[in-house]
Amino acid sequence: MEREQWGTRLGFILAAVGSAIGLGNIWRFPYVAWDSGGGAFFIPYLFALLTAGIPLLVLEYSLGHRFRGSAPLVLRRLHPRAEWVGWWQVAVCFVIASYYAVVIAWAAGYAWFSIGTQWGSDPEAFFFDDYLAVSAAGTFGGFRPGVVLPLVGIWAVTLTVLVAGVRRGIERANRVLIPLLVATFVVIVVRAITLEGAATGLDALFRPDWDRITDASVWIAAYGQIFFSLSIGFAIMITYASYLPRDGDLTGNAFIAGFSNASFELLAGIGVFAAIGFLATTTGAGIDEVARDGIGLAFVVFPEIISQLPGPSGLFGVLFFGALVLAGISSLISITQTTVAAVEEKFSLPRSRAVLLAGGGTALVSLVYATGGGINTLDVVDRFINTFGVAAVGLVEVVLVAWLLGALGGMRRHADAVSDLQLGWWWTASLAVVTPLVLGWMTVDNLSTELAAPYGGYPASFLLVFGWGLVAVVLLTAIGVARTSWPAEVSLERTLSAADRDLPPSSGRQEQP
Ligand code: ALA
Repeated sequence: MEREQWGTRLGFILAAVGSAIGLGNIWRFPYVAWDSGGGAFFIPYLFALLTAGIPLLVLEYSLGHRFRGSAPLVLRRLHPRAEWVGWWQVAVCFVIASYYAVVIAWAAGYAWFSIGTQWGSDPEAFFFDDYLAVSAAGTFGGFRPGVVLPLVGIWAVTLTVLVAGVRRGIERANRVLIPLLVATFVVIVVRAITLEGAATGLDALFRPDWDRITDASVWIAAYGQIFFSLSIGFAIMITYASYLPRDGDLTGNAFIAGFSNASFELLAGIGVFAAIGFLATTTGAGIDEVARDGIGLAFVVFPEIISQLPGPSGLFGVLFFGALVLAGISSLISITQTTVAAVEEKFSLPRSRAVLLAGGGTALVSLVYATGGGINTLDVVDRFINTFGVAAVGLVEVVLVAWLLGALGGMRRHADAVSDLQLGWWWTASLAVVTPLVLGWMTVDNLSTELAAPYGGYPASFLLVFGWGLVAVVLLTAIGVARTSWPAEVSLERTLSAADRDLPPSSGRQEQP
């Protein structure tokens, strides 16, 4: 069967940018930048973008474009024994999508609560005690209807888009979501920078602390931000690039996607810190007393900001949480598509059945986080899957492609053959040396942090099941699925071309020289 294709180059770029711009841009980047040297952080960030972000984007685009499949099929075509790495990435996506959807559901709930600032005078107590009614770590504590309801809506939208396919579903959705998101965020930023105290927040964000630049943890933070934010390492970009036309540009697209994502991070940083400056000024607190990231920023600090706003504050709340939903859904679509495409190909299923099985399965699992114990589970799963999922599998991916299979040369020629912009030695050096070193360092560093003290002070048994246990199950499942055979109609062949001459021979079933 003909492989689906993006309708236009812009369609692909919007989808790639939609995948990249997500919760990580809005609630993670501003805090990481402020906490890691302010203005000085932009140097490690830019360095990480150019030595890991864009090179890995080009590599994943080239793999997907050259071998035209979901991650497991692409890696199987690259080498018969590499398929498990693709399934590892798919399993990581499955886990991430299951809790990512829940955070979007909270944001949708909060767009509603913004009307009339329904969280009252203590947003923190409202979030944890009233809205989530958090129960002890390791308990389920029953479903929370206020979470389940929007969650069902989020999944209904996501799965409907996926059933419609690449061009009619994903491309069309991103054509609406991304312009809407950018427009919404511009309004948020304009409102935020005109608030009293905005300059204090912006000064805190941009004032460079040059001493931090020699701190290794700042560089790790920059690389960590780039990996999660650009959606690289977890095979999403392999999948999306597999739907590019044969002559689709790769390197230029990677630069556009990388810099668009970075620009949005900057925009988010300005909006978030201007608003934080306003809160600090109004309450007489220091920036360091009010600045937070992640859940605390979105569901505690922002409600406080919204409550303090002069004029129609509810509208600002609807825009802010609406932006989180828009950014989140376009990323969720891409993460879920990665699992759907893999299941579709491996089990030769019609698209709707694959969406039902892989997407519906993820949706069912996500209900675990819609319970009273959900937020604790989410916290641990997020921590472990990012450190020992995204970072570790990214490391294995580059070591495999660059060192074990020696495939960088072939991939570089492939990218150069279809792209206007030609790759230089920096690309090979970045992937063969810089990225493996940084990811290796990150993984060792994460491991020693995790072994030194139990994460978040959670009970050891809880971390054993939802942290270490989950990481092990993800890996074992990947190895297990990779051992099952492909349907006869799926060609495992990699037609050798001149561009692949230094790739190891594929032992695909129907290989031809
Ligand atoms: N790239 C997505 C984000 O930043 C996953 O949230």
